[in-house]
Amino acid sequence: MTTPNKPSVLVIGGTGGIGFAIAKFYADRGSKVVITGRDAERTAGVAKEVGGDTRGIALDVAEPERVEEALKSIEHIDYLALVAVERDYNSAREYDIARARRIVTMKLIGYTEVAHSLYPRMGAGASAVLFGGLASERPYPGSTSITTVNGAVSSLIRTLAVELAPVRFNAIHPGIISDSPAWRDKTDAIKNIEKRTPGGRLATTGDVVHSVDFLFTNRGVNGINLVIDGGWLLT
Ligand SMILES: NC(=O)c1ccc[n+]([C@@H]2O[C@H](COP(=O)([O-])OP(=O)(O)OC[C@H]3O[C@@H](n4cnc5c(N)ncnc54)[C@H](OP(=O)(O)O)[C@@H]3O)[C@@H](O)[C@H]2O)c1
Repeated sequence: MTTPNKPSVLVIGGTGGIGFAIAKFYADRGSKVVITGRDAERTAGVAKEVGGDTRGIALDVAEPERVEEALKSIEHIDYLALVAVERDYNSAREYDIARARRIVTMKLIGYTEVAHSLYPRMGAGASAVLFGGLASERPYPGSTSITTVNGAVSSLIRTLAVELAPVRFNAIHPGIISDSPAWRDKTDAIKNIEKRTPGGRLATTGDVVHSVDFLFTNRGVNGINLVIDGGWLLT
């Protein structure tokens, strides 16, 4: 079976940042795209902005018990991107259990429940990409929960790739994505960190979308963790 010509694509967390860019990439190429965000009206509005054959679904991955119901209108998916995140500050010194529980639930139980719900509707050649992040390797003050879940995403894809085969599961671990909404206004910080990369350049949203497309389409790649950071980890 070959890679689908116009794959149907679902982006969990497609209303902003990297998820929006992934959705737009495939919508511009004629794919049927579904994006999710927490608020139905806002998500429908963003789906119009994405354009093409795109629609929105309201879904909160921090409430995994409701995921199956929220996704019931989806008939078939070729490519699944699990991108959703809530910005989180938590440290082991001032530990907030409720915040920790929420991010762990989102990225580990929520992501898994989405995969569990959808894999029977995923076609031959189907592929999923989960988003972790470089905080797993490079903790920073307040990253305790994010470091933990991003590290766990690295292992989660391995069990999903084995248990939900033939769907392929891979992960992307972005470093700082310099033009993403989370970072683009922090120009001084970006400049300082760019100096510490071998090429003087951090990765961009376009670099990440390109990598997602590679992981979706290259059928030889399964169960791998791909770091996209402009080589920042080397220095
Ligand atoms: N940007 C970076 O530099 C960077 C670095 C390392 C890792 N990453 C990883 O890359 C991914 C994308 O990051 P980003 O910066 O593009 O994120 P972002 O701009 O903050 O977008 C997050 C998306 O997740 C959705 N979302 C938030 N909470 C949700 C919930 N409880 N349930 C369902 N959806 C929810 C948001 O939609 P609504 O607000 O509409 O609900 C939005 O679409 C994340 O997994 C992040 O950990 C990014």
